[in-house]
Amino acid sequence: MNTLLLDVLDGKQVERPPIWLMRQAGRILPQYRKVRAGMGSFVDLVKNPEKAAEVTIQPVDELGVDAAILFSDILVIPECMGLEYHLVKNKGPVFPKTINDPGDIDQLIHGEIATKNLGYVYNTIGEIKNRLDRVPLIGFSGAPWTLFCYMLEGEGSKTFSKARRFLYQHPEASHKLMDKLAVSVAEYLKSQLENGVDCVQIFDSWAGMLGQDLYKEFGIKYIEQILSTLPTGTRTIVFSKGASSSFGELLNLDCKALGFDWSYRPSEINSVVKGRKVVQGNLDPCVLYGDEKTIKEKTLQLLTSFDEKHIVNLGHGVYPDTPLDGVKTFVNTVKSYRY
Ligand code: CP3
Repeated sequence: MNTLLLDVLDGKQVERPPIWLMRQAGRILPQYRKVRAGMGSFVDLVKNPEKAAEVTIQPVDELGVDAAILFSDILVIPECMGLEYHLVKNKGPVFPKTINDPGDIDQLIHGEIATKNLGYVYNTIGEIKNRLDRVPLIGFSGAPWTLFCYMLEGEGSKTFSKARRFLYQHPEASHKLMDKLAVSVAEYLKSQLENGVDCVQIFDSWAGMLGQDLYKEFGIKYIEQILSTLPTGTRTIVFSKGASSSFGELLNLDCKALGFDWSYRPSEINSVVKGRKVVQGNLDPCVLYGDEKTIKEKTLQLLTSFDEKHIVNLGHGVYPDTPLDGVKTFVNTVKSYRY
């Protein structure tokens, strides 16, 4: 087994950094698009352990990345708590029912009662573990704030102003919902670990929508709560996109690695992190649209900017129309590099 990712997270020395890509399992791969076309809906695919395992393994075969990430979605948490979602073509996730007032929050189930409905995810993990022993498997969840955004808005948004407005109008109810989410996410991640994932990443994709104070009060606090309930020694990666104003607070989280988007300069990351965390990131996903020479140059620049506690990744998920050759150039450049 290629243990590069686990070795870096465990603080061991490695000959080169591991690489995986956020959103590697999905539409960049023709193999994924084929499986997806044969399924009724995205949610059907997520709920089918056999097929979800298949698409989890595809990028390991096709791209040669150093880790697999469980094929699922962050939105399974709102669903198991009582808000179902659909994926609408050319639009994204849509929730027919949303949280409109504090009373709606009391209707939601949470914790183990909710996450026991996610047996299909645990079965997918078992199925992947039966078929894949070459590289580690990353489990994941959305962070409470990002899940809150979808539960309030009912869909994606440019401003997430409904979600942000609710924090001011109903602070107590907001804390209540964040707590319900944190308890559920913690339970869910514990079950993923019990079923065999080797590490977990918490995605806070919309962290950058909140200013420093609100992100501290409603975002980081609940990531902290989740981390504090995971078994000691759990390998954890926290990715708070756009949260550079909260850099100092993120650094105090009890996690092994922090993910960074491409707005950070590597030298800035190094000078603040000072080896206290493993650093994951942070190539601009748009570099992969460049020609081969550009991709190699930018990748080598990234590789030499960080020290040996680095997991190579993009600064956000790979965009669906990224040329596969560009992705492969990125992966292969990293794999032939040596410290
Ligand atoms: O490869 C992987 O990273 C594993 C699978 C994965 C998916 N979603 C599959 C998916 C992961 C880790 C996610 C996380 C996720 N889901 C996030 C956090 C990461 C990020 O990119 O910020 C968010 C915000 C979501 C919510 C979500 N799900 C959106 C906004 C969308 C539609 C837009 C989009 O990116 O496609 C989805 C659908 C979704 N989740 C797809 C996939 C492969 C597309 C499904 C399809 O069209 O077949």
